Amino acid sequence: MLRPDAQRTIADLRALAAFGRVGTGVNRRALTGEDMAARAWLVERMRAAGLEAEIDGIGTVIGRTPGAKRHVLIGSHTDTVPKGGWLDGAMGVIFGLEVARAAMEAGLPGEVGVEVASFCDEEGRFAGLMGSSVFCGTRTLEDALALRAEDGAVLRDAVAAAGLAGREVARLDPARHVAYLEAHIEQGPVLEQAGKQIGIVTEIVGVERGRVIFTGRSDHAGTTPMEMRRDAMMAAARMMTAAQDVLREAGSQGRVTVGAVEEVRPGVINAIPGAVRFTVDLRHPDAQALDVVADAFQKAAESIAAEEGVEVAVDRFFTSPPVVFDPDLVAQVEATARELGLSTRRMVSGAGHDAGYMSQIAPTAMIFIPSRGGRSHCEEEWTDWDHVVDGTRVLYHLARRLIAS
Ligand code: HGY
Ligand code: MN
Ligand code: MN
Repeated sequence: MLRPDAQRTIADLRALAAFGRVGTGVNRRALTGEDMAARAWLVERMRAAGLEAEIDGIGTVIGRTPGAKRHVLIGSHTDTVPKGGWLDGAMGVIFGLEVARAAMEAGLPGEVGVEVASFCDEEGRFAGLMGSSVFCGTRTLEDALALRAEDGAVLRDAVAAAGLAGREVARLDPARHVAYLEAHIEQGPVLEQAGKQIGIVTEIVGVERGRVIFTGRSDHAGTTPMEMRRDAMMAAARMMTAAQDVLREAGSQGRVTVGAVEEVRPGVINAIPGAVRFTVDLRHPDAQALDVVADAFQKAAESIAAEEGVEVAVDRFFTSPPVVFDPDLVAQVEATARELGLSTRRMVSGAGHDAGYMSQIAPTAMIFIPSRGGRSHCEEEWTDWDHVVDGTRVLYHLARRLIAS
């Protein structure tokens, strides 16, 4: 039985990591020069393997084995967070390429082939899961092109600057796509602590993202008595800690992160901040609990604003509901890993993935491999080679089952 070529997979992972390298990590924000260079390299690797490959009209790279009428789609993303890890997303794309190559070398794809995708902007330079949301039709192309990045760039302009304007945009086709598979590093500590080799992902948590803007009054840091102040930073600081209390109410499965303080005005040492804007990322596996937390967060912001004598606006700009994967496919993933003699653990993903949108239209499954120390979205992200090899084997044999079924 032909096995995927682990050395070739590792060599491609290392080559991809050179694009946007930062220390031991990478910085490939969607549609930047580093990201587009990586996409061009990926297209070349796909074509060198005999796949028909191109970059579509919003930067998603799609490659497919020739001649098939239907395809098992295997994907993830090659864009990253700033100073991110070199495996987050990239691993699932290269695994897909390796499955396609190994299937072709085994003379496999007949009626059902393999299609490989690197969805653009999973990490949300413009919007989280942007590429897969357009691919699945959850977001119209028009709406996507109007998205504005954290640095002010508009997607339409970034697409034009990358030379992609007017190109066809790839779409998920339930009649053609048999299933969607995504292999990903766990990005957390569960598998490593449990001593398990493969994570069988049953669900993805719901995600709610927003921006909170407190607006007070800028005054002199020295002459303004404390009781006279309308200090936007004081309100923001209280809100950031209040978020922990709000979350504690919802039990231990929730997560809240204030990832970026995007603006402080006037932002100088001797003036009371008149305006502060920061981001909030809320997660919970239960849709209702997520709503409760988001509403409680909004109420807490409003009462803190009233107490501090400032205004508040909460802009809830991103919601992705919890996802439950197809139980039959999940069982097949588990059986495949076990047949290969690997230890497994069923688990919920605390990270969002492109598989979240796919699962709304096609049978979808994910596998995790362990992250060393549970670290990710940082330069220290790493997974030991034996886990990488295990992951390619599980994905290959699972794809074989689906191709041959
Ligand atoms: O934020 C996430 O969960 C994913 O890494 N984009
Ligand atoms: Mn990520
Ligand atoms: Mn990812």
